[in-house]
Amino acid sequence: MSGFETKVKFLERMTQSGAVFAGESLVIYDRVLLKLPEFKTWLKKFRNTYPVTAGENLKELKKFPQHFENIAKLLAGGSRDLRIIAVGGGSVTDFAGFFASTYKRGVKLVLVPSTWLCAIDSAHGGKNALNAGNHKNSLGTFYFPEKILIVKSLLMSQSQERLQEVYGELLKIALISGKNLAKGIFVGKKKSLSLWKLLPVAIEAKYEIVKQDPFEKKGVRQVLNLGHTLGHVIEKERKLAHGLAVGQGIIFASRWSEKKGLLKTSDRRKIESLIRAVQGTKKVKPLRRAALLKGLNGDKKMNSGKINFVFLRGPGKVFANLVSVNEVADEAIKQGWAK
Ligand SMILES: NC(=O)c1ccc[n+]([C@@H]2O[C@H](COP(=O)([O-])OP(=O)(O)OC[C@H]3O[C@@H](n4cnc5c(N)ncnc54)[C@H](O)[C@@H]3O)[C@@H](O)[C@H]2O)c1
Repeated sequence: MSGFETKVKFLERMTQSGAVFAGESLVIYDRVLLKLPEFKTWLKKFRNTYPVTAGENLKELKKFPQHFENIAKLLAGGSRDLRIIAVGGGSVTDFAGFFASTYKRGVKLVLVPSTWLCAIDSAHGGKNALNAGNHKNSLGTFYFPEKILIVKSLLMSQSQERLQEVYGELLKIALISGKNLAKGIFVGKKKSLSLWKLLPVAIEAKYEIVKQDPFEKKGVRQVLNLGHTLGHVIEKERKLAHGLAVGQGIIFASRWSEKKGLLKTSDRRKIESLIRAVQGTKKVKPLRRAALLKGLNGDKKMNSGKINFVFLRGPGKVFANLVSVNEVADEAIKQGWAK
């Protein structure tokens, strides 16, 4: 068993979360959620709550001591038998996960994702991270939550734009697992409803990979990086949403795989047209070579000038291979992502 069945619960509304929250707890939540009457009512059940402003600033290492002081004051006199409940997107669950894993050497953790991206990806896999200045996600721990509650009403409260962003991650997991998630993306006009229906399959596919290598010792999880090598650089340099940047990164990886004779042209075309259909056809302004190299060199998965780049042979046939940073940069320039 991958842990998926026991850990991940799908709920219609926050009010159904009930018994999971018995005992001493602290809710760390994204303050934007206060706009939701249902969330506000639910929050009133808790004595200890800590609102945060989501975003990379929340994960900034320099800010952590002040948050720690604030939270320690709130919890003064409490025991180690504490449960941190994090409600928010990936920045909130990363922050709260890091806090839970280090506070008194580790307390219980429950994650309640409020963004599609977090529901499909960040909340699963046991990773959390803070940013140390320019070094994004470079300080963190592996720390598995006891439960992840995926609440429909929270996710449905997001805008259509956020929906569009998450398709990069959805397509990533579809390509890695070979599961036919792509077909469902276009079901009906109510895209958010179709995504809700796809979530269990997409999340379980991630658990299947994580369970083979929970602490990233064997390299199995490297495939989850599909589309992220160039994606991260585009995200940072062009201030593009994570999921949109990953979509572009998958196009890059597909074209490179095709050139190497690994991926059939028809499959590459299918992948590109899917990404363009859900994420739009707007081209990303080419990066400067220096910015591209700086971004690639800042990749935390880089080792002695080499990166484990994820190539595709087809859906369900994805693998990582060591390539030099210069090879990635040269290919990106050939494909027009940089000049
Ligand atoms: N730990 C992991 O495995 C992992 C994996 C992928 C990404 N991440 C991290 O996740 C973060 C990005 O994820 P994200 O986009 O979910 O993060 P986020 O927490 O920054 O949320 C993005 C925005 O959505 C808003 N928001 C949250 N819920 C909302 C709702 N229901 N309605 C309206 N607005 C809402 C937030 O206030 C914020 O402005 C990054 O910090 C990234 O490093 C972590």
